[in-house]
Amino acid sequence: MSYQLIGNNIIKLNTITSTNNYAAKLVSQTKIPFGTVIMADFQSKGKGQRDSSWISQKSQNLLLSFIVDSSFLHSKSIFYLSKITALVIREFIYEILQTDTLIKWPNDILVGNKKIAGILIENQWKNNYISSSIVGMGINVNQIIFPDKINAISLKEISGKNYDLRLLLDLLNDIYNRWITFLKKQKMKLIDDEYHQNLLNFNKWAIYSTKESQFKAKLKEVNQLGLLILKLENGKEKSYNLKEIIQVI
Ligand code: BTN
Repeated sequence: MSYQLIGNNIIKLNTITSTNNYAAKLVSQTKIPFGTVIMADFQSKGKGQRDSSWISQKSQNLLLSFIVDSSFLHSKSIFYLSKITALVIREFIYEILQTDTLIKWPNDILVGNKKIAGILIENQWKNNYISSSIVGMGINVNQIIFPDKINAISLKEISGKNYDLRLLLDLLNDIYNRWITFLKKQKMKLIDDEYHQNLLNFNKWAIYSTKESQFKAKLKEVNQLGLLILKLENGKEKSYNLKEIIQVI
C-alpha cells in the first residue's frame, strides 16, 4: 500500500452488502492504495455501531468507506481517528448548512438533536499494532422519509435542496485531508479541544443510562481511549465504554 491522499482513488459501486466489508476485503486481498474511498448507491447489509444495521434508501445518501493508513498511531491513541472523523463530518455539515452541528459520543453527528450521520471504524491489526483502518460513514443527504423509530434528519430536510453526492464527496475529502494532517502532526490538543467544544452536553448535566440504572451526570471528557468520563452527583468521576452506557438526554 502506498502514501495516502484521501479521495485520490474512488471506487463507485451500485449495490453491495456493506462498503466496510468490501473495503476490508480489498485491504486483505489486494494492494489497494491508502486513501481509497468506496462509495455505494445501496447497501443490502449496512452495518451500524453497537451491532445495529444502517438502512439507507438507494442513491439518496452518502455511504462511504475510507481506507486509512493509521499505522502511525499508537493503538492506545486510535480513538483520535474517530475524533477527527467526527470533526470532519461536523465541519462538512456546518459548511453546507451553516447551522449548529454537534457530536454525540461516541460518534453520532446531530443537527437539532436528530442524527444526520454515523461513523463505524473497523481496524486491521498486525501482531499487536494497527496497520490500517476502514472508516465507514453514513451521511443522510437527499432522503426525506425515515422510519419513525429512527430519530434521523438529512441535509435536504433542513435546506430544502437536493445535493450531488459526488460533489459532496470532493468537499468531504478536502476536509478529511486537512484533519489527517493534524493527526499526522500529532496535534492532539487541537483535536481534543475541537472535539470537546463540539460535543453534545460537554460540561453539562444530562441523563445517562446503564444496564443497572439511570442517573444524572456531567460529561467531563472523552479520553484517548474513547472512554466517556462522567462526573457523578456525588462528585466522583467514572469512566464508561460505549457498550456500558447511553446518553438519554
Ligand atoms: C452508526 O451510527 O451506527 C454507524 C453507521 C455507519 C454506516 C456506514 S454506511 C457506509 C459504511 N458501511 C457500513 O456497513 N457502515 C458504514
